[in-house]
Amino acid sequence: MIQFKELENIDVSHKTVLITGGNAGLGFETARYFATHGAYVILSSRSLDKGQAACELIQTEVPKTRLCLLQLDLADSNSIENFSTQVHELNLKIDILINNAGIMAVPYALTKDGYESQIGVNHLGHFRLSALLFDLLSDDARIVNVSSMAHRQGTVNFKNFMYEKGKYSPFGAYSRSKLCNLLYTYALADRISANNLKMIVVSAHPGVAKTGLFDTGKRSKVIQFFIGLFLASVSTAEEGARPTIMAALDPQAVSGNFYGPLKKNLVKLETPKPLALDKKAQSDLWAYSINKTKATYPLN
Ligand SMILES: NC(=O)c1ccc[n+]([C@@H]2O[C@H](COP(=O)([O-])OP(=O)(O)OC[C@H]3O[C@@H](n4cnc5c(N)ncnc54)[C@H](OP(=O)(O)O)[C@@H]3O)[C@@H](O)[C@H]2O)c1
Repeated sequence: MIQFKELENIDVSHKTVLITGGNAGLGFETARYFATHGAYVILSSRSLDKGQAACELIQTEVPKTRLCLLQLDLADSNSIENFSTQVHELNLKIDILINNAGIMAVPYALTKDGYESQIGVNHLGHFRLSALLFDLLSDDARIVNVSSMAHRQGTVNFKNFMYEKGKYSPFGAYSRSKLCNLLYTYALADRISANNLKMIVVSAHPGVAKTGLFDTGKRSKVIQFFIGLFLASVSTAEEGARPTIMAALDPQAVSGNFYGPLKKNLVKLETPKPLALDKKAQSDLWAYSINKTKATYPLN
C-alpha cells in the first residue's frame, strides 16, 4: 500500500468528486483535500448554512477552489431526488462518488420515508442516491462507501430489519447499517463486473476519529466526561479521512477493497467480518433495498 503522502503526486485537477455530508467531520476533511488539490467538488449538506460555512472555511485556505454546494437530506427521498436533479443539471460526469454522510447510535426514529433512521440514512439513502446518479458516473469512476469497524457487531435479520417488531438497539442499528455499507459495496461490485464496466467500488473506515458523530443522543455528564477523555486520544478528523481519500485515489485499487488506518500516515487493507463477504447476504440486501427504495440501477 502506498503511503498517504504519496497521494500528493496524483493529479486530481481533472476530477469531479461528489461527497455526501461534506460540511462536517470526515466529509469536510475529504472535501477539503480534494478541493485544495484542484478537483471540482460537489459538496452535499443537510443545511445550506452549514455547507456555506464549510465552503468558506476551505476557501480561506485556497481561495480559488471549485466547490459546488447542494442541499441533501438522505432521510427524505424527495430531497434525494431533488439533489439528483440538481446534479444532473450541472451537466458533468462524476469521477469519484463518496457516500460518507451518516448518523450513529441515535434514539429510535423514522425517516420521512418511514425507515428506521440509521438504516435509512446510512444505507438506503445512499443506495437510492447512487442509483439516481449512476448514469452520471464516468466510465472509470470510483464509488467509495464509508463504513466502520462497528460492522463487526452488525447482524442482518430481514424479519426485523428495521426493528419493525421492536427490540431496537441504537448501536445494533448503527452496526447493521455499517455492515450494509459493506454488503452493498460487494453486491454492487459483482453487478458492475457482470456488466463488464470499468468502475471500481470500494469501502473505507476511519478507525475512531473525533467528529460530531459522537455528539448524538442525550448523555449524562459523567458519560459525556468519559467520552471526552476517550476522544482526546483518538485520531483527528483530518487523519480519519485518510482511508477514504486513499480509497478514492489508490492507483492499485480493485473493487471490494476495504481501506482502514494503520498509523497516522499509513492506510492498510482491512478484512471485513465473514458475513460481509457472504454472497447470499449481499444479494438478499440488494433485493431488500431495491424493494424498499424502488431504486433502478442500469445493471443486469
Ligand atoms: N468518526 C468516527 O470515528 C467514525 C468511525 C467509523 C465510521 N465513521 C463514519 O464516517 C462517516 C462520517 O461521519 P463523521 O465521523 O464525519 O460524523 P459527523 O462529523 O457527524 O458528520 C456526519 C455528516 O453526515 C451528515 N448527515 C447526517 N444525517 C444526514 C442526513 N439525514 N442527510 C444528509 N447528511 C446527513 C451530517 O450533516 P449535519 O452536519 O447536518 O448533521 C454531517 O455532514 C459516517 O458514515 C460514519 O458512520 C465515523
